[in-house]
Amino acid sequence: MRDLSDLTFRSATAADAQSIRDLLQGSDLPTSDLSAVRPDFVIAEHAGQLIGIGALERFGTAALLRSVAVELQWRGCGIGRLIIAELEQRARAAGIAELILLTLAARDFFAHLGYGSKPREEVPAAVLGSAEFRSLCPASAHCMAKALAPA
Ligand SMILES: CC(C)(COP(=O)(O)OP(=O)(O)OC[C@H]1O[C@@H](n2cnc3c(N)ncnc32)[C@H](O)[C@@H]1OP(=O)(O)O)[C@@H](O)C(=O)NCCC(=O)NCCS
Repeated sequence: MRDLSDLTFRSATAADAQSIRDLLQGSDLPTSDLSAVRPDFVIAEHAGQLIGIGALERFGTAALLRSVAVELQWRGCGIGRLIIAELEQRARAAGIAELILLTLAARDFFAHLGYGSKPREEVPAAVLGSAEFRSLCPASAHCMAKALAPA
C-alpha cells in the first residue's frame, strides 16, 4: 500500500496546464473545451509531484464534476476518493448544492462514493448547455449526481 501521508491538495495555476492536458489525454478524457471554459482544477501532489486532478465547472447552485484522473501507477490506492472528497468540500464551501457528472468508464467508482443515476431530463438547463453535455461526452455516457449538505 502506498503511503499517502505526504498527499497535498492545491488549486491549479496556469503553470499546470500542460500536465493537466497530458493526464487527461492519457486517461481518455476530453480537453478540447479547457481553454474556453477554465474549470477550477484541484491538483493532488505527492512529494511535489502531480499524481491526480479533478475539476468543478460551476453553473449557479449546481456544478459539473469533471476531469477526475489519477496517474496510472497511483490508481487503486485511494487518491481518486480523496480527490472527490476535496472537490465536494470546495463545492460545499462555495455554496454548491449538487454535483453532476457524466462518465463512461467510472460509473461504479462514483456509485461507490454516493453518486446516483440522474435522468438527463432532470439536469438543470445551464448544465445541459455545457460543452461536456452538448458534444464532448457521447450520449451513452452515464449521468450521475450527488446532493451536498450545506457547509
Ligand atoms: C476513476 C479513477 C479516478 C479512480 O481513481 P483511483 O485513485 O484508482 O480510485 P480509489 O483508489 O480512490 O478508489 C476508491 C474506491 O472506489 C473503488 N473503485 C475505483 N475504481 C473503480 C472502478 N472503476 N469501479 C468500481 N470501483 C472502483 C475502489 O475499489 C475504492 O473502493 P474502497 O475504498 O472500498 O477500497 C481512476 O481510475 C482514473 O483516473 N481513471 C481514468 C479517468 C476516468 O475514468 N475518470 C473518471 C471520469 S471523470
